[in-house]
Amino acid sequence: MARKVNVGIVGCGNISDAYFNGSKKFDILNLVACADLDPARAKTKAEKYGIRACATVADLLKDPEVEIVVNLTVPKAHASVNTAALQAGKHAYCEKPFALTSADGAAVLALAKSKNLLVGSAPDTFFGAGIQTARAAVDAGAIGRPVAALAFMMCRGHESWHPSPQFYYEKGGGPMFDMGPYYITALVNLLGPVKRVGGSTSAAFPERLITSQPFNGTRIPVETPTHLTGTLDFASGATATVVMSFDTWPYPLPCLLLYGTESTMEVPDPNNFNGPVRLRSKDGKTYDELPQAHTSDRSRSAGVADMAYSILRRERAHRASGELAQHVVEIMEAFEKSSTTGRHITLTTTCARPAAVPASLAPNELDS
Ligand SMILES: NC(=O)c1ccc[n+]([C@@H]2O[C@H](COP(=O)([O-])OP(=O)(O)OC[C@H]3O[C@@H](n4cnc5c(N)ncnc54)[C@H](O)[C@@H]3O)[C@@H](O)[C@H]2O)c1
Repeated sequence: MARKVNVGIVGCGNISDAYFNGSKKFDILNLVACADLDPARAKTKAEKYGIRACATVADLLKDPEVEIVVNLTVPKAHASVNTAALQAGKHAYCEKPFALTSADGAAVLALAKSKNLLVGSAPDTFFGAGIQTARAAVDAGAIGRPVAALAFMMCRGHESWHPSPQFYYEKGGGPMFDMGPYYITALVNLLGPVKRVGGSTSAAFPERLITSQPFNGTRIPVETPTHLTGTLDFASGATATVVMSFDTWPYPLPCLLLYGTESTMEVPDPNNFNGPVRLRSKDGKTYDELPQAHTSDRSRSAGVADMAYSILRRERAHRASGELAQHVVEIMEAFEKSSTTGRHITLTTTCARPAAVPASLAPNELDS
């Protein structure tokens, strides 16, 4: 059994419980402290989970015990908190999106490299049984050579239910930076890196009316595209059509379809760890659910645990890596760039396809 790696959480908001609980499931992780801009939030979580609350983020970064900083702050603080963690000599793992611009993401990666520290980023839903079952089937040739994919995330926005939906419509918000990380990361996992992106983006509504509490009745200006469509050309030769929208009333559509020379596969919602994978039968009469060999018990923190193994064994590549996340940021950013400039965007980044997770591993392990 490898030694435990000590973790400190920065940002004790909505998603943090998933990490406080999730990290307990992985033997390699030892959660020791937490901090937030609002010290009361950190104190509440620290008491709930039996760890130390730091009065300030700076205190957590100075804590000699903390080895990985898990950054669960709001998207616009991701790059600055990652930078501060690295400058303090800590490895950094961040919630999605990794950065709001590829320039910010590149600076974080360069700093990590110069300090010989690791950087990782959500999503880690692809460690789950859903995407891993699809990945194993693709690698085993179940659809033949992948030729195309469709990815749809279409809804009418989050102002009817989210308590503070303003950030979704600010610069750096929108459906692509909110949900794109799940879909694009799953596509890169299944089909490999992307070479170029063509996009068309729009915003159907110049302002949004919040109907959730506590801001019911407040109008918010829309500063970002809220409907993004485009194509991804993969290095492998496959192409994907992507639609991400906060402007449309949902209609039943699959989240992700892969088309190959031999068959077609439905991939489950990449925002979830689990879900059925369906394969078109040879005669095309049925769409058959594939058996899931993988554990259905993985949850958020899988990416952190996987990075912890790589901290102990540096030659081992971790899967939810900064390089993968930076490639995804550049892809997401390219939709608007392509739409504005009227041309395809050839990407400057690439990444290795993360290694498949062996089906034989127990839920609390990610290394054999
Ligand atoms: N809520 C979800 O269901 C969900 C799901 C998946 C991913 N995420 C991602 O997780 C991240 C956090 O989302 P959330 O819903 O928990 O947001 P939240 O607003 O509930 O919590 C964010 C917390 O970070 C703190 N914070 C903000 N800036 C900070 C800074 N500079 N230093 C220290 N603390 C700071 C805030 O005080 C707050 O407590 C986002 O990137 C989001 O995209 C959220």
